[in-house]
Amino acid sequence: MDAILAAPRLMQVGGGSVKQVASLLAKFGLSRPLVVTDPFMASSGLVRRCLDPLEQAGIVASVFSDTIPEPTDMVVEAGVAVLLAGDFDCLVAFGGGSPIDTAKAMAVLAAGGGKMRDYKVPVQADTARLPVIAIPTTAGTGSECTRFTVITDAHADEKMLIAGLGCLPLAALVDYELTYSVPPRTTADTGVDSLTHALEAYVSRRANPFSDALALAAMRLIGENLRTAFREPRNAAAREAMMLGATQAGLAFSNSSVALVHGMSRPIGAHFHVPHGLSNAMLLPAVTRFSVPAAPDRYAVAARQSGLAAADDPDDRAVARLVAGLEALNRELGVPTPAEFGISEADWKAKLSLMAEQALASGSPANNPRVPDAAEIVALYNEVWTGAPRNAG
Ligand SMILES: NC(=O)c1ccc[n+]([C@@H]2O[C@H](COP(=O)([O-])OP(=O)(O)OC[C@H]3O[C@@H](n4cnc5c(N)ncnc54)[C@H](O)[C@@H]3O)[C@@H](O)[C@H]2O)c1
Ligand SMILES: [Fe+2]
Repeated sequence: MDAILAAPRLMQVGGGSVKQVASLLAKFGLSRPLVVTDPFMASSGLVRRCLDPLEQAGIVASVFSDTIPEPTDMVVEAGVAVLLAGDFDCLVAFGGGSPIDTAKAMAVLAAGGGKMRDYKVPVQADTARLPVIAIPTTAGTGSECTRFTVITDAHADEKMLIAGLGCLPLAALVDYELTYSVPPRTTADTGVDSLTHALEAYVSRRANPFSDALALAAMRLIGENLRTAFREPRNAAAREAMMLGATQAGLAFSNSSVALVHGMSRPIGAHFHVPHGLSNAMLLPAVTRFSVPAAPDRYAVAARQSGLAAADDPDDRAVARLVAGLEALNRELGVPTPAEFGISEADWKAKLSLMAEQALASGSPANNPRVPDAAEIVALYNEVWTGAPRNAG
């Protein structure tokens, strides 16, 4: 085995743990946070769940709340200007993957200067100006424990993967009670993102025994609880399981990798502004069908683990049930096709070769069990558009 493991120095996990934010900062000698969040968190008052316990400890935090979904380099630059204008000793990221990724990118850009594009893979973004303490409010991207951030180049319409220790939070507070207010659509999209992280980490060419253990644990939790969390937002057991699964899946892929679904998903997000988990969901059945022949045993284990196949299904039946089960899950969660989302066929077709090129350039498809060429990626995008299986296998 050949593996490097990276994780936050401390992760405090449990209902109500956000109340410990001040004592967590104190453990690291930190007391001057800039809280990074989004406009909804600020206007809805949800950010008070983080600000109140800080204030009770005598810390009146400044707040940067101008982050946007699927954050851009321009937003990161605006955040860096705020960061550099103040006397902060850490960033507290409070929100979904978008504010957390923004905070990470701010820390990296403020350390090295230049443009966000300068840090895109294969560059190693190992240095951060300030530590990030991440508090996720979706379950989720796992960004609270990954060594990645994803930032869109607003001019080039490219969602850039930025990787390195500079993107790894110092600590995370993982409190499932923060997810009760997540609406069903976002619960579904973020939950499928987590499931995709676990599945891709497990079938990745970079999988190792550590990432396998976390990915398998995450698949079980997400497979058993995603539908319930979607239908019953206040179901504590389902919300807790989804948060735990999301974090485990984040640790899994951060120490293995994501693969073809994520490689193809980022260009859809960049060009058509489809939320990240939703573009993953659109791709997941077709990409799984394409990839299964290269690792049927791994996909069969994943099918049984996530509950989409029965424990005693032989491999061939298990993988068939996996693809069918992912399609059924999409129907149940109301995942739209690209056309139903509002994308025009002409726009979709016009971008296909550029999207395939950007997918390949991200490096993620090279980790897939079956490594596609550009023509195969275009064929998969076409399949996702028409909804027709590429082959009947
Ligand atoms: N860094 C990584 O390792 C990693 C991994 C996967 C995805 N990502 C990135 O994360 C971003 C997506 O993050 P996301 O899926 O968490 O969505 P998000 O952060 O964009 O949030 C989606 C929406 O949900 C709302 N929301 C968040 N928490 C809420 C709550 N508790 N109650 C009510 N509403 C809430 C937000 O205000 C927003 O409108 C994408 O940019 C994606 O590329 C990063
Ligand atoms: Fe993801």
